[in-house]
Parts: sequence; structure tokens; C-alpha cells
Amino acid sequence: MNIDIIITADDIKEEKIKGKTVIVIDMLRATSVITTALNSGCKKVIPVLTVEKAKDIAKTIGENCILGGERNAIKIDGFDFSNSPLEYKKEIAKDKILIMTTTNGTKAINGCLKADNILIGALLNAKSVALKALDINKDIVLVNSGTAGQFSMDDYICAGYIISCILNLRECELTDIAKTSKYIYDTHKDIISFIRKASHFKRLKELGLEEDLKYCCQKDIIDIVPEYKEGAIV
Ligand code: MLT
Repeated sequence: MNIDIIITADDIKEEKIKGKTVIVIDMLRATSVITTALNSGCKKVIPVLTVEKAKDIAKTIGENCILGGERNAIKIDGFDFSNSPLEYKKEIAKDKILIMTTTNGTKAINGCLKADNILIGALLNAKSVALKALDINKDIVLVNSGTAGQFSMDDYICAGYIISCILNLRECELTDIAKTSKYIYDTHKDIISFIRKASHFKRLKELGLEEDLKYCCQKDIIDIVPEYKEGAIV
């Protein structure tokens, strides 16, 4: 089994993901939100590219749905919730359909539709997503959402941790970029200290979102693996 990494949503190419299992990562914060909301009993998450589309879908579905997401890390006008995973507690998310649009994460998910399987990964569910990807038994591509088309340290070290979880279970062939992310993780196991220097970490900190940062940097506190199928993540 081979493991590769794509470093931003803008770098996704059909030939790199076709026939493979992709694990989409936006640990700060879209894939942490999706994992948390589903773990809180949310029925499904519909990831869309634009604010207009999200509002249209919400109108069509009606009462049972909530609108969540961000632009530039800030809650969108007219939306019910922001992109803070801490908002998606049971009392909010249970039995709801979350329509979600974010700057990078939902873009990366929608960019992967040509893959055979699309799993959603974060530090929060790293071990479980590693196990599920191995069960599927196809080559794996970790798709880092990145930040506005730029490489991001946070998604890269998260990929390194997921790779390390995979290699604990089975030997695999890694591309150089995958080897490097595992090396970064192996030499910086205290992830929050490493990503303090990341630009998106700094942006969220400036916005006063330290509790989100601490939450998203926890490893393996959730054991569900969200999967995108036919337009929704379940
Ligand atoms: C994104 O999808 O671009 C991010 O999750 C941004 C954020 O942290 O709000």
C-alpha cells in the first residue's frame, strides 16, 4: 500500500486521487468541526462551496437543518453557527443536518469527488481514521486543505501523526513528502508547540479562539470516522 500527501486544496488533481482512499484534513478547524458535530449526533453534514448554495439548501430542507461555517475564520452573516467545534455540542447538533461552508476545508472535500473513498480526518480521530483507511485496503492520499492555497504546518503535522498511526498497524510505501511529514511528527510529538508558529494558528489566536486551538490539538478523543458519500458526510 502506498501513502502520499497533497499539500493544499488547490493542488488536488484527478490522477493523484483516482482509485484511492483520501483522508481530507483541515484540523484548524473544518474537519475537527465535522468530526465533533457527527460525534454529537448530527445526522449528516453537507459540505458546500458557497454561502449562497448553503442558504439555498437550508431553505429546501427546512427546519431540521443548521447553517455553519466561516469566511476568514469569522462566522458568516445569517448563519446559525461559526466554525468553532466547541459550538457543536449534543444540544445543538443532535438529529440536525449541518450545511457547512468554509474557506478551505469544504473546498478540499469537494475537490476529492473523484477518489474512491473520502474519509474525514483530524487529530481528534486520527487512530480511527488510520484503521478505517487500512480496512478499505487501497492506496491512501492525505489531502491537506491548507490555507488559501498555501501549505499549512498544522495539516501537515496532522498528516504525519495519521501516517504514524497507519505504520503502527502495517508497513506501507511512503512518498518523500509523506516520509517528511512523519519525520516532522516523530520529532515534534507535542503538536500544539509545533503549530504555534503556523500562520492560521496565529490568526485564530488573535481572534481569541484559544479554546478551539486546544480542543483541535487533542489526539484520538473521538472514535468515529466521517465519510463523504453521495453529497453528504455521515
Ligand atoms: C477552513 O476550512 O478554511 C478553516 O477551517 C478555517 C477556520 O479555521 O475557520
